This record gives sequence, C-alpha cells and structure tokens, in this order.
Amino acid sequence: MSIRVKPFEAILGASVTGLDLSKPLGECEIELLRHALANYGALRFPNQTLVEKDMARFASLFGSLEVNVAATATNKPFPEIMTLSNIVENGVKIGLSDAGQGWHTDMSYSKPIALANMLYGLKVPTRDGKPLGDTQFADMGLAYDTLPTEVQHRIENLSVEHDFNKFWEMMRSRPGSDRPPLTPAQRAKKPPVTHPMVMRHPVSRRKVLYCNPGYAIKVLGLEKNESDELLQYLFDHQLQKRFLYSFQWTALDVLLFDNIRTLHNAIPDYLPHEHRLLKRCQIMADKVFLDLELHQGPG
Ligand SMILES: [Fe+2]
Repeated sequence: MSIRVKPFEAILGASVTGLDLSKPLGECEIELLRHALANYGALRFPNQTLVEKDMARFASLFGSLEVNVAATATNKPFPEIMTLSNIVENGVKIGLSDAGQGWHTDMSYSKPIALANMLYGLKVPTRDGKPLGDTQFADMGLAYDTLPTEVQHRIENLSVEHDFNKFWEMMRSRPGSDRPPLTPAQRAKKPPVTHPMVMRHPVSRRKVLYCNPGYAIKVLGLEKNESDELLQYLFDHQLQKRFLYSFQWTALDVLLFDNIRTLHNAIPDYLPHEHRLLKRCQIMADKVFLDLELHQGPG
C-alpha cells in the first residue's frame, strides 16, 4: 500500500493513509511526513492500532520526547507518554482531565521548543452521533502573513517571555479545578524563557507568529502597558475565525500536529460520563534544528 496525503477541505490539515505506524518506517517515509507536517500543520492517521512502545518509537522519529512536569510515576515505563482523560477508575483519575483547555502552544515555556505533538485517540465521546472534544487549531503562518506591514516590521526583532505558570494558574482559577499550585521545585524546573516573536519554521522556512495567550506574558524591552497592549492585539489577531480549524476525533486516530506553525485548544464540551481517552507524546524541535544547522547553517 502506498502513502497517500490528502489535504482537508480546511485552512490546514491532511489525512495520511497507507501507513501502519506500529511498524518501523523508512527514511523516505519519515522525510515525507516531516515535510507534510510542516506544509499542512496537522496530519491525521486514521485507524491505527498502537501500544505505548509504538507511539514512543514513531514520535521519536521526529525529535526527542519530553517528560512533562505534570507526569506522574504511573506513567512508567513510558514517562514520555501522558494520559489525557476524564475517566475515573476506583475513585482515581487515570490521566490529566483538563489538558489543553485554552489557546496555547505546547512547550513555548521551554528553551528547547517543541516541534510537534502526537495524540492518539482511544476513546472519543459522542452525543447524538456527533463526536465531542474537538481539538481546534489556529494557523500562525497565516496570522503572521495577514498582519499589517507596519506591525510585521515592529515585531520582527522583538522577543517574548513565556511562563509555564501562566497557563497552570489560568486552569487553576477555573471552577472545579483540582490542580494544586506548582511546587517551588516544579517552578524552578520551568523558569520563564524568551523566544523571538517571529520565527522562521525550521522545515518550511515560512515566517510564523510565535506568541500565544497561554504562556506569553511580556514583550522584552517594552513598558508593561505597552507590552500588554501589543500582546492583546496579537492574541485578538491570531484567533480570528478565518485562521481556525476544528479537528473532529474518531477513535483510533493518530493526530500529529505542528507546534511551531499552530496554536491549539481542547474543547471540553463533554460530560464526566462521556469518556474521553487520549495518549500524548511531546516531540521536541532538537533534531529538526540540528539537521537544519547541518544542512543550511544556523538562522
Ligand atoms: Fe497542548
């Protein structure tokens, strides 16, 4: 069976068929997927049957895997795989139930940034035949391209501070949240970091707006009110409906999405008895930036 990449009828995304992700892939296939991911922003691989070992192997083809600060000892022997779920078994939650509910870019709070996120949908809640718990995306290539030229010039050399604690506290402030505050040790592991506001995508070389309401807290070199005003302007701009796409899950989908090109948001439109179970791997951008330096030089 040959690989087929079929773009969604949407501003981003494509479906990839003809690949069994439980089997090792060849160099050509990996290269094709790396470019398809950069070109389409999100790739759906339907009807995959994977165990955790397969997930970790496939995800690590694109970069090293992150072990999340919120991961627990129960993730052994694959701490790089997180469980996202609202399921409670014997009074114990089997995973993080409120992950990703709010617009953000994974790992923008980290100095080594993420290239992509791999999600595997094991249980997808439905109601009246319609899937619930969509994952929404916003295209930051389009968001950058459509900024007024004077704004593009203004932000070209600016840097933004990103803080893991911003999103964590936002989630904690929601009614019913049982997230504890981060401990001093957890905060020390995740101090605020800065990144360029405009980044060139390492694979597509396209400029993207690398700034998101989940973690961006400050524009360096600006007074607080000026920084707040610019950030709010960018947050409003980047989340316009014309840049958004909502992915509807089907059980056994693998979704690989680009964390440099897109922001995402998990829609919590399902109830506690409507069970959702996803597994996740976070793929760092280390390999792709290293390859870029080797082949094209830094920059
Ligand atoms: Fe996320």
